[in-house]
Amino acid sequence: MSTTARRPRGGGFGIERLPRIAYGKGSYLYDESGKRYLDGSGGPAAFSVGHAHPEVNEAIMRQLERVACAYRYLYTSSALEELSAVLLQLCGGDFQQIIYSGSGSEAMESALKIALQYYSAVGLMRKRHFIARERSWHGNTLGVLSLSGFAQRRRAFEGSLLEVSFISAANEYRPPPDVGAEGLVPYLAAELERCIQQAGPETVAAFVFEPVVGAAGGVVPAPAGYALAMQAVCRKHDVLMIADEVMCGSGRTGTWRALEHDGIEPDIMAIAKGLAGGYIPLGATLCTGRVANPILEADGVFYTGHTFTGHTAACAAGLAVQRLIKREGLLERVRNKGASFRHELTGALSRFDEVGDVRGRGYFIGIEFVRSRATRQPFVRERGLSLDIGARAFAGGLICYPGSGNVDGALGDTIILAPPYNASDTELEEVRDKLIIAIEGALGAK
Ligand SMILES: Cc1ncc(COP(=O)(O)O)c(C=O)c1O
Repeated sequence: MSTTARRPRGGGFGIERLPRIAYGKGSYLYDESGKRYLDGSGGPAAFSVGHAHPEVNEAIMRQLERVACAYRYLYTSSALEELSAVLLQLCGGDFQQIIYSGSGSEAMESALKIALQYYSAVGLMRKRHFIARERSWHGNTLGVLSLSGFAQRRRAFEGSLLEVSFISAANEYRPPPDVGAEGLVPYLAAELERCIQQAGPETVAAFVFEPVVGAAGGVVPAPAGYALAMQAVCRKHDVLMIADEVMCGSGRTGTWRALEHDGIEPDIMAIAKGLAGGYIPLGATLCTGRVANPILEADGVFYTGHTFTGHTAACAAGLAVQRLIKREGLLERVRNKGASFRHELTGALSRFDEVGDVRGRGYFIGIEFVRSRATRQPFVRERGLSLDIGARAFAGGLICYPGSGNVDGALGDTIILAPPYNASDTELEEVRDKLIIAIEGALGAK
């Protein structure tokens, strides 16, 4: 690698420490020194079909040769229309409208604004309040940061955030004190009920949650029946349900919508990350006819969106990614292979007493580390275990996604695996083997 001293600074990530990317191919990335990295987490669970796929690149190039971006107030485009038709078909149910954006934060920000605009349209202007959950992440803009139960990322902005009510995370491995597995869903539904009553049902606009928690929890699927029970409470009080599927959606868990698995449809849903596979930034907010129709009748338009909403080349990228997923049967692959991969991984990691839990769905897998399996106690923060594992994996040519703070906002260590949907069996074995070496090294170093 070239010397770091002459490098310019930028982005606020300490780029002077990072290797320079040269190119990507399939599940691998290569830096300028020629070192190869297997992308075991699709970066931050974003690169759903691997890197530099010729079909996706060609679709983008074809679009760029014609026009990069048609401004949303002047034109529509076939890329946008075809992608919208595909997404509405994939989502099914009553989903009827899509507002595109350029990131998960923007998609979630639009989700909040659509909920507020809906209650304005139906004349319930007092419904302004949001309920969210502890140990959650919804993005970096001030609105959705306010809804994020992620102490470390909120701290510097406290005092300027929206007032939001927080309820417990739905975590079977770390339930609230004195709540057993069987009682967990009724406990959490009752907690939401209490929270709505305390705020006053006439003031609550929406309940916001990740169907499978990503970065803030280290992949935490909700227990069976949770989403349905929470939806029943929301319906009872005329509170909208907003699903943040930015990380867990777009096929990552083996169904196109993560909540398909739970048999429910939220009122509003945000997706991003895997939607266009990271080839060009693309997010989207979908809402049902029940929400969209009153808005369109009252106002004619959604009061949200940005200059590059529905960016044409980004839509072309999204369309190419979605076509590839369909043609190659990648959802089925993620569903079936994901279960066996997680099973093998669980077996291979069982010899480490420090591996407390291996969980997830499809190609969205979380590994939680504890001081001992019996006590489930987390490591001390100063140990930086997940970062240590992540750094060792990276040095060994594997990209995984370390997380911390999943226990109480400060303590806890997790590693997320989220390989490309089209990773081969051999590549998945390499992910497993390289991760084990990194874990062994980190735990051995104590
Ligand atoms: C669940 C969830 N929501 C929202 C976001 C924000 O997305 P972005 O970083 O693209 O703004 C993220 C990003 O990690 C996420 O995981």
